[in-house]
Amino acid sequence: MRDEDARLQRADFAARPVRDCADLNTSSDSKLVRALGKDLREIAARGELRTLEIPAGINLCSNDYLALAANPALRDAVIGAVARAERVGSTGSRLLAGNACEWDELEREFADFAGTDAALYFTSGYAANVGLLSAVMGRGDIVFSDAANHASLIDGARISGAEKVVFPHGDLEALELALHDHVNQPGRKLVATESVFSMDGDLAPLREMATLAKRYGAEVVVDEAHATGVFGPEGRGRVAELGLESEIFAVVHMCGKALASAGAFVCGGATLKSYLINRARTFLFNTALPPYFAGQIRAALSLARAAEAERARLKTITTKLRENLRGGGWDTGKSASQIVPVMLGGNDVAMRFAAELGRDGFAVRAIRPPTVPEGSARLRLSLTCALKDEELVRLAQAMARAREHMSAAMQGQAASAGRA
Ligand SMILES: Cc1ncc(COP(=O)(O)O)c(C=O)c1O
Repeated sequence: MRDEDARLQRADFAARPVRDCADLNTSSDSKLVRALGKDLREIAARGELRTLEIPAGINLCSNDYLALAANPALRDAVIGAVARAERVGSTGSRLLAGNACEWDELEREFADFAGTDAALYFTSGYAANVGLLSAVMGRGDIVFSDAANHASLIDGARISGAEKVVFPHGDLEALELALHDHVNQPGRKLVATESVFSMDGDLAPLREMATLAKRYGAEVVVDEAHATGVFGPEGRGRVAELGLESEIFAVVHMCGKALASAGAFVCGGATLKSYLINRARTFLFNTALPPYFAGQIRAALSLARAAEAERARLKTITTKLRENLRGGGWDTGKSASQIVPVMLGGNDVAMRFAAELGRDGFAVRAIRPPTVPEGSARLRLSLTCALKDEELVRLAQAMARAREHMSAAMQGQAASAGRA
């Protein structure tokens, strides 16, 4: 098979939506497994079934914003860190045998990066947000949470047992009203938000949120997952860009996106760090990553801090892509970052669009509920600085072609429905 045929076949396979779960159950299945199969068939009927796919073609669904994942200098640094390591397993949680000077040094470096007194590493961003919120909040407290927040912030608030007040996405008036309504309620209060929203690519009004929180006696937690390495001086995030370091209770920087690694740092005061070491269950009861992995993050951080040209390139190509898409009549929402949603509405339409683009050689994902609200399915285009201008021009052409194919198919369906 020619390379090109193989690539197209992979792309077609990757993009083919799975709707039929009829073969998920066998006659020997237990009651529980049959019930799970039934649930899956219902999920599939709603167009919400997920399957694991290997990205094929031009990758527009990666969070490798600075293209560090395949950077030779980072690869060499990882090989060097492994070669120097006395052991390749951490052998325990940080409180048992798993601590190492590499982690202590990296936490100091990250605190400097974030402009805070201290930082604590968690093995994933999910664990960082869940550990942070569930440790510092509890019954009788209130978490004010943006409606578009990531599942890890939502789950952290849920697990904490605090009351959860969800305010409409980015709506400062609604946030103020909610804070005002609860002003006389005792207990701890925390506003939780992302700085760059992962599915909309828009920016939280952090300065205004910090002012409101202060006025009503609340603290603020900012998840910088999609801003780390991308926004602010040296990629230090939006909190640093706005000079808000001293106003924010905790800033969470993720390493799994622009830093091409894994894990996250909760950055804040020394008291917060000590509290999390004692109370964050996702820290306490989690085996540490091996010390050489700290070497990977450290090298990635240093490359990211110096990547001014890559940040500028990312900004240029995303601005251009947004302009082209908006010019072509696409709705890209309020995107102001390297994440560009293309709003399509229905799950089926979004999946068929992603499949069409897959056949044209682009790895694009349809984002559907429950990740986004019902009726707001979309393509999520996430750009890396390694994308070439001509690839983005081809993308806009492929999108227009997909639209033509789909409207022709829809007209065909309507005509045959009329004949029936
Ligand atoms: C906004 C946001 N917060 C937290 C996370 C979780 O980070 P991680 O993938 O490192 O667990 C993600 C990743 O999907 C994210 O997009």
